[in-house]
Amino acid sequence: MLVLVAYGSTRGGTAALARMIAEDLEAEGFTADVRSARHVGGLEGYDAVIVGGALYAGRWHRDARRFVTRFAGGLRGIPTYLFSSGPLDNSAGRVEIPPVRGVASLMGRVGSAGHATFGGRLAPDTTGLVARAMAKKHAGNWQDPNQVRTWVHQVASDLRASVAPTA
Ligand SMILES: Cc1cc2nc3c(=O)[nH]c(=O)nc-3n(C[C@H](O)[C@H](O)[C@H](O)COP(=O)(O)O)c2cc1C
Repeated sequence: MLVLVAYGSTRGGTAALARMIAEDLEAEGFTADVRSARHVGGLEGYDAVIVGGALYAGRWHRDARRFVTRFAGGLRGIPTYLFSSGPLDNSAGRVEIPPVRGVASLMGRVGSAGHATFGGRLAPDTTGLVARAMAKKHAGNWQDPNQVRTWVHQVASDLRASVAPTA
């Protein structure tokens, strides 16, 4: 079963989460293809899709939003999961953070099977005026590989169940 893991990322954190997800999927026996959402040409050959986007000012990354709207028709026909990254504190590991409104609406549009919010990261020497100001107080890495692995395990179980023979 081939799973596309597509991401929208400005500073590399969400791309790193996508790679973690792909590694965990491979450990679960799936084949995973990690790509920037901007560079996906089509969904042919994929049995399921996971799309992740960084959160900036309460909005999902533009590449992730565009990916979902562009391929909405195809995504409706295969299991699709979304993820967001991420709070610059340990909240994502403590409670299940629901998708922001725009992401929830995209989930409805493609009949998405699930969503997770993972902790984010911000380097102290990040680029960009606003990000640099934010990094003075909030630099750090709150990505939790265990949280990612647990979620991928759940997704993998769902996917196996969705293709299991019903007779
Ligand atoms: C200017 C700015 C705004 C941000 N806004 C949010 C936000 O609204 N919600 C959130 O959970 N995280 C927010 N973050 C944290 C980012 O989502 C986090 O740094 C994430 O890991 C960035 O992903 P990327 O490295 O893939 O771009 C913000 C970060 C910056 C620099």
